[in-house]
Amino acid sequence: MINTDNVMQGKYYIGLMSGTSADGIDLALVDFTSNKPKPHLVASFYQSYSSAVAKKITSLYQPGNNEIDRAFHLDVELAHLFAQAINALLSQESLNSADIIAIGSHGQTIRHRPCANNPFTLQIGCCQTLATLTEIRVVGQFRRKDMALGGQGAPLVPIFHQQLFSQAADTNFVVNIGGIANITFLPEQGSSKSVLGFDTGPGNALLDDWFAKHHSSSHEKFDKNGTWAAKGRVNQALLTQLLEDDYIKAVAPKSTGREYFHLDWLEQQLAFFIEKTYSQCPEIICEVSETVLNAVDIQATLLAFTAQSISDAIILLTLEGKVYLCGGGVHNSALVDTLKTSLNTSDSDFEINSMQALNIDGDILEAMAFAWLAYAFDHGLVSNMPAVTGASTSCTLGSTYLP
Ligand SMILES: Nc1ncnc2c1ncn2[C@@H]1O[C@H](COP(=O)(O)OP(=O)(O)O)[C@@H](O)[C@H]1O
Ligand SMILES: [Mg+2]
Repeated sequence: MINTDNVMQGKYYIGLMSGTSADGIDLALVDFTSNKPKPHLVASFYQSYSSAVAKKITSLYQPGNNEIDRAFHLDVELAHLFAQAINALLSQESLNSADIIAIGSHGQTIRHRPCANNPFTLQIGCCQTLATLTEIRVVGQFRRKDMALGGQGAPLVPIFHQQLFSQAADTNFVVNIGGIANITFLPEQGSSKSVLGFDTGPGNALLDDWFAKHHSSSHEKFDKNGTWAAKGRVNQALLTQLLEDDYIKAVAPKSTGREYFHLDWLEQQLAFFIEKTYSQCPEIICEVSETVLNAVDIQATLLAFTAQSISDAIILLTLEGKVYLCGGGVHNSALVDTLKTSLNTSDSDFEINSMQALNIDGDILEAMAFAWLAYAFDHGLVSNMPAVTGASTSCTLGSTYLP
């Protein structure tokens, strides 16, 4: 727990999230001190990245030339962008730095290798620069201690979801569809099952990548509402193959990132699919590549893959409950419709809503969780969940940086 005498001034925490979609910066201004039963979201702010910055981020998801220089120039550049966003939020709310107790900064993940020899995870957006520029204390690098304790360092949000649903009697799921999708399973009260959380696989990542590859001259950065995907036909054989992927089949604890679910992964899957089909029926290879596997059908299949990898993970845990969706994928209506269909089979019965049904802004929930992680750091609260991440013990996550 931090020595609070000199540094615990102010009233609010700010949570900062920059997710693997590399779309922009989410900020949540949160009050944990009011008498309200739950953390109270006072205000939020979103700043999108320019295409140039987004490209700098996504180009670091995979090994490439001159990575150290590129990563650590970007580390500082992002800290400046984070500080600009924080200052914009403060002026929007007529606040100044003295009103903020601390910023809980997730930063920007550029590499996540929880299963390597000497596992590591790398979030950039220099916490020290951010503290100095904003004159606000920063708590960051939340994933490292969990990883040092043998955990995956991810996902970190389930403990926050557990608090939001602490009064709920029945089974709930929170499904966050960001670049990667993660679920939190909150069993009904009195159940012998424990809270679980893991990344199910891709969220918007492959949909964004495939869309961008085939719409290079479009102003749109993603397949808005899944309109393009909805024009295609799902290739069932390809879908079956994608669902056989090692990560999708692995049991939790598990977490993943854009270094895995990347365009290269997809190209390998497509090459394997064509080779497999060709070896069985050589005479139809032209048809396979030109008609069966056209770009829009692949987008439709990726959408079905994203939805089914989420629904399969849920159905393996239980056959009924309430599912609350958050993250940018909630705005992809075709994806949500497909997810609803794949969750409600003849054996299962799920009530599916967005977080908005609980009066919670699903676009800002993750940023709120990082505000809570800073609050938990200051108060010495346990903030990892060994059952979720696989860490050997529970602990308080984060490191602090003074202005
Ligand atoms: N209207 C929409 N239609 C389809 N996809 C959308 C829409 N709005 C947002 N998205 C998707 O949501 C992503 C951003 O979601 P977000 O939760 O911020 O992810 P992350 O946490 O990875 O940054 C975008 O990259 C896009 O793929
Ligand atoms: Mg985002």
